[in-house]
Amino acid sequence: MIITTIKELRDYLDTHRQAGKTIGLVPTMGFLHEGHLSLIRRAKAGNDIVVVSDFVNPTQFAPNEDFESYPRNIERDERLATGAGAHAIFYPSAEEMYPHGSSTFVEVTGDITRVLCGASRPTHFKGVTTVVAMLFNIVQPQKAYFGQKDAQQAAVLMKMVTDLHMDIDLVVCPIVREKDGLAMSSRNTYLSAAERAQAPILNRALREGKAAFEKGENSVEELIQLITGKINEAPLADIDYVSIYAFPSLETIETVEEKALAAVAVRFGKTRLIDNIILEK
Ligand code: PAF
Repeated sequence: MIITTIKELRDYLDTHRQAGKTIGLVPTMGFLHEGHLSLIRRAKAGNDIVVVSDFVNPTQFAPNEDFESYPRNIERDERLATGAGAHAIFYPSAEEMYPHGSSTFVEVTGDITRVLCGASRPTHFKGVTTVVAMLFNIVQPQKAYFGQKDAQQAAVLMKMVTDLHMDIDLVVCPIVREKDGLAMSSRNTYLSAAERAQAPILNRALREGKAAFEKGENSVEELIQLITGKINEAPLADIDYVSIYAFPSLETIETVEEKALAAVAVRFGKTRLIDNIILEK
């Protein structure tokens, strides 16, 4: 069932809440793939009612980014989400979500939003935290589900939930990959055949980094060099960053002693892909 207005969604959820049902939220920007479906299935297993939001959020895109061309297909999304166990698909317009324009923001400040993707997308996380806070207010779920693929987003949202005392469990689910290791992403559809063939290098490079770490290499500089060298073997790969930070604080480290995130962003033509792996002894 597709619901397009906040009022209709609230009425629907109030009925279920009054009947004592638990609510799980899976926020998405639509064009669902197996990664999203794994979140929906997980939400179905842990809640009575599952709401999937399907909203390409304008405030998390910079003017030069792909907001207009971001792939959309609500009929397909409804079929896939329902098949995976969603009860309601919240599909609001931008006017429904931002009726007064966007003058109020929720922003997590500090290095956590400045490093990694925050360096090349300085307004992105402010848009994400604002829309997710809005969705939390509208749906009031007990649990919300996000993918580890967007590891920095998950870390930033955890910080928001902690700092603002939001009574919501964030469930971060494993990255779902194609057979050749490419992390699933709606943006993979932008890749040409030649770019698609080289894109699995991200995962291969990260796995080589992890293998070196597991064999005893814990210098961040050495590990970054190794991962960078491997990615540069793909002629179409244009590296935005290869970084390693403590996870989930995203604090700078020189050696990996505890849980760390090795993360990469790489352009193939016009498409910017991200991927990551956790390093942990
Ligand atoms: O990860 C996404 O698809 C988006 O950033 C999110 C969390 C749905 C907010 O628009």
